[in-house]
Amino acid sequence: MNRFAGKTVVITGAARGQGAAEAARFHSEGAHVVLTDVRADEGDALAHQLGERAAFVRHDVTSEDSWAQLFDETERLFGRCDVLVNNAGIYRPAAISETTSELIEQHFRVNQLGTLLGMKHATTPLRKSGRGAIVNISSVAGLRGFSNAIAYGATKWAVRGMTKVAAAELAPHGIRVNSVHPGFIATEMLKENSDETNRIGADAAPLKRHGTADEVAALVAFLASDESAFITGAEIAIDGGWAI
Ligand SMILES: NC(=O)c1ccc[n+]([C@@H]2O[C@H](COP(=O)([O-])OP(=O)(O)OC[C@H]3O[C@@H](n4cnc5c(N)ncnc54)[C@H](O)[C@@H]3O)[C@@H](O)[C@H]2O)c1
Repeated sequence: MNRFAGKTVVITGAARGQGAAEAARFHSEGAHVVLTDVRADEGDALAHQLGERAAFVRHDVTSEDSWAQLFDETERLFGRCDVLVNNAGIYRPAAISETTSELIEQHFRVNQLGTLLGMKHATTPLRKSGRGAIVNISSVAGLRGFSNAIAYGATKWAVRGMTKVAAAELAPHGIRVNSVHPGFIATEMLKENSDETNRIGADAAPLKRHGTADEVAALVAFLASDESAFITGAEIAIDGGWAI
């Protein structure tokens, strides 16, 4: 498949995990890809590994200046932007009684504000594309409640809601916006929180396993492609059945 030949895709949080798998997937289908992250060494190495049609830009999704510079740089590098994947995220579990204002603000700034600023700054380049698409990575924690995730869950429900607002507002400009809700996906994020995810019993989903970053990447690519041209404002779970 060469669904993204001639297109440019920006993926945040692409130095590792699902973002890295998404970058590789879009690149393998002919896209020019801009990988962004605060992890500069890993992101730079991955872009070099992908080779031609790939570039890394150091970018902090919580900074509005950083977003404006990112799309200027993307147009300078590849002349256009057709797809934004708002993938960067953090997950720091804590009981409600242990949740500090600082923890809430950290989640808010990366997961919620970062996604909102991305949609804001992508609008102009995506309008020029004529067939723009935004894919926002929420979570199964944006579809149902999990204990010890009040700060994380709040932002992932917000991503789901903001996706619908943006889908309504940007449809007249030819931009589709959808949210993806991964369940437990085998990445560093899961490993770094293994005590918590073992407590929840991540393997207890009806399909009895963790998902892979490549499985999420395939869904994200579908939602960014013209094959999903009639899908906008949708929330798609990829969670082995956790949200049933
Ligand atoms: N792994 C899971 O089980 C799971 C489940 C549901 C949803 N998600 C969501 O999927 C997305 C990807 O997660 P992952 O599993 O690949 O985790 P990960 O921790 O491996 O990757 C997240 C990436 O985001 C980057 N990032 C963090 N803060 C940033 C910032 N301020 N600016 C730019 N980049 C920043 C990190 O450096 C990292 O490279 C996240 O939004 C996460 O919340 C993950």
